[in-house]
Amino acid sequence: MAIEFELNGDAVSLNVESDMPLLWAIRDISGLTGTKFGCGKALCGACTVHVDGQPMRSCSLPVAAVAGRAVTTIEGLSETGDHPVQQAWRELNVPQCGYCQSGQIMSAAALLARTPNPSDDDIDTAMSGNICRCGTYPRIRKAIHRAAEGKS
Ligand code: FES
Ligand code: FES
Repeated sequence: MAIEFELNGDAVSLNVESDMPLLWAIRDISGLTGTKFGCGKALCGACTVHVDGQPMRSCSLPVAAVAGRAVTTIEGLSETGDHPVQQAWRELNVPQCGYCQSGQIMSAAALLARTPNPSDDDIDTAMSGNICRCGTYPRIRKAIHRAAEGKS
């Protein structure tokens, strides 16, 4: 059965099992590998994408759940990589190994969309589900403030 939804602004129709995780559909079927697999159990945030603007764990969401909805991955966050969060990330050299970072950026972008000037507590709450084994948390917090201030 074809599952139809919007992926980074484009209409897609995928002939996949309805219970296939969205992450598989994004990476293996659609070839967008910026979204990462970490735990596969909705615990680490590496697979975070936006569904109708809300951050969701694509490893634990069946693709059928996004039928008729708009999915945005890191590749679709901005056309040229100049979303304020991406700019702040570059300016403050946030990534270390980088593996968790597309998920971090997607969660940060969703936070700023709903809370344009987040407090440290807002950031800690919104980002608590995004694990970074390299411990980049202080730079992540700083970069979110930078993006919020429009300094990027
Ligand atoms: S891979 Fe989805 S939350 Fe870890
Ligand atoms: S930068 Fe390495 S896991 Fe986050």
